[in-house]
Amino acid sequence: MDLGVNIDHIATIRQARGTNYPSVLDAATLAEQAGADSITLHLREDRRHMQDKDLYELKPLLKTKMNLELAPVPEMLKIALDVHPEDVCLVPERREERTTEGGLDLIKKFHDIKKISDDLTNAGIRVSLFIAPEIDQIDKAIEMQVPIIELHTGNYADFDGELKNKELKKIQQAVEYAKKAGLLVNAGHGLHYENVQNIAKIDGIHELNIGHAIVAKALFIGWENAVIEMKKIIKEYAQS
Ligand code: PXP
Repeated sequence: MDLGVNIDHIATIRQARGTNYPSVLDAATLAEQAGADSITLHLREDRRHMQDKDLYELKPLLKTKMNLELAPVPEMLKIALDVHPEDVCLVPERREERTTEGGLDLIKKFHDIKKISDDLTNAGIRVSLFIAPEIDQIDKAIEMQVPIIELHTGNYADFDGELKNKELKKIQQAVEYAKKAGLLVNAGHGLHYENVQNIAKIDGIHELNIGHAIVAKALFIGWENAVIEMKKIIKEYAQS
């Protein structure tokens, strides 16, 4: 199981003071050296963390791959076609939200999202759709003919007790269903050093995308160690 390290919150710290540090370029390079299998970043419409310039500087520097998270809107499509990351993960976006809340609604927004997805695919960019672990959403992703879905683990991360177990089961069933249909399945959101284990145990997940917890852990043990530690946990539980 691969680890995509999301470096958005390195940029959050930089933007908080309008400085040119900490460097997202150094963060990406060091994360790759520590074992990251891809570098994930989200260019939000309000530019609260990543800036357009970051994308252009990161793209030629990355040794793994860029997984660019974007809202499915024309402005972001244009940027993606210009930067040409290996992967684009389409995510829902609302300006007032603190972080991405919930997955895309592929049922309500099928045609708009399909149009953006097709344009990216035709340009040779792999498209991933960030969706809740719901069978009807997976069916729409299959209909859209994307190669990848990323399952939202936010509810699993937020819930406790029986609700958490229920959500974990939903994720397990969603992975199995999507895999049978030939999709590559990623997962992420809200995963940290104490809750990633049960997700890592699920057979068939290709990549976990994790950001906030790694940046937080880095404050105490250092950035590279935080990546190494997360890789270690994933490896250990993916094999058990
Ligand atoms: N996957 C997607 C699609 C996301 O939008 C995010 C947050 O940007 C993440 C994974 C990572 O979430 P977290 O920062 O909570 O690890």
